[in-house]
Amino acid sequence: MDPFRFAIQARSGRARVGLLTTPHGRVETPLFMPVGTQGSVKGLLPKDLKAIGSQVLLANTYHLLLRPGPERVRALGGLHRFAGWDGPWLTDSGGFQVMSLGHLRRIDEEGVVFQSHLDGSLIRLTPERSIAIQEALGADFIMAFDECPPYPSSPEYLKASLERTLRWLERSLKAKTRPDQALFGIAQGGTDAGLRALSTRETLRFDLPGYAIGGLAVGETKEEMFPMVALSTEILPEAKPRYLMGVGHPEDLVAAMGLGVDLFDSVYPTRTGRFGSALVPEGRINLKNAQYLEDKRPLEEGCDCYACQTFSRAYIAHLVRAGEMLGGILLSLHNLRFLHRLTERAREAIRQGSYGAFAREFAERRFGKEV
Ligand code: GUN
Ligand code: ZN
Repeated sequence: MDPFRFAIQARSGRARVGLLTTPHGRVETPLFMPVGTQGSVKGLLPKDLKAIGSQVLLANTYHLLLRPGPERVRALGGLHRFAGWDGPWLTDSGGFQVMSLGHLRRIDEEGVVFQSHLDGSLIRLTPERSIAIQEALGADFIMAFDECPPYPSSPEYLKASLERTLRWLERSLKAKTRPDQALFGIAQGGTDAGLRALSTRETLRFDLPGYAIGGLAVGETKEEMFPMVALSTEILPEAKPRYLMGVGHPEDLVAAMGLGVDLFDSVYPTRTGRFGSALVPEGRINLKNAQYLEDKRPLEEGCDCYACQTFSRAYIAHLVRAGEMLGGILLSLHNLRFLHRLTERAREAIRQGSYGAFAREFAERRFGKEV
């Protein structure tokens, strides 16, 4: 039997709860994937991630290719063994990181050439190489090699790029040899409705275990982004998981889950935590602000995470000011728990057929009053 299965268990409007089966266990969607770029979610132990409800971790081909190298990871048991997370992993294919980190030197039909940020050497990444690396890393979910065009891009560029990404998808699929990994295709098309629909439909000509919506959250407005998400989930098949790449703001998750998106990832909760901010139902608080220095309350009243159960805002504000790494650790832990709880509550609301009310209550708390 196929080691990958996706079963929709409940629906509310366009939102769905799904059970996603992988070779490393079953997970419930919608879910948020913490980002462990270098095979580590910055500051957090795998057992702590398990305790706060993390289900799938994401790692990056680009970083692990440069260091420690895919063959070393393979020799050390693949990501599951090497990085001590025995649940499912997803690896991104590398092209996006090359571009977003500004190391791109050349892009052509063959692939991309980039300069290593470690030693300056020139490295080529192609669909075939990306898949070979992702097979060595051994994640459960692997991503097709794609181009995420910068925002804004002209319709001419978007069209040529998405067509090349489709050829790269075909090459990615041909290069794949492992039966125990699920390859997701990535639709592009920028914020052009016609090109987005074209890219999505053409990606669907490949029968894949899941489909990603790429090329969004790269600088466009929400008014431009959400129509693209809505259009995508209208075209994508009901029976396959849908992954909105790089989206992790709580209000965006609530909107996208309502449109039928199942999977999310973003560095946002951990990065904003390391920078001293905590996610709360009303928005975000910055612990560097003097008002928290004597605040006895937890980061979030009622939160079940270790940071909130144990420490005051005042203590964490102190840690942040003193540059103690525990500050960033506690904030990352809480912020990830906040997003996992958001998806848990969303799943509960979907099962009860009340996702609309859930989304309205979320918006009322968030936008209804000042913190
Ligand atoms: N992460 C966020 N957006 C993208 C995208 O468009 N492509 C890939 N591969 N990764 C992403
Ligand atoms: Zn908390």
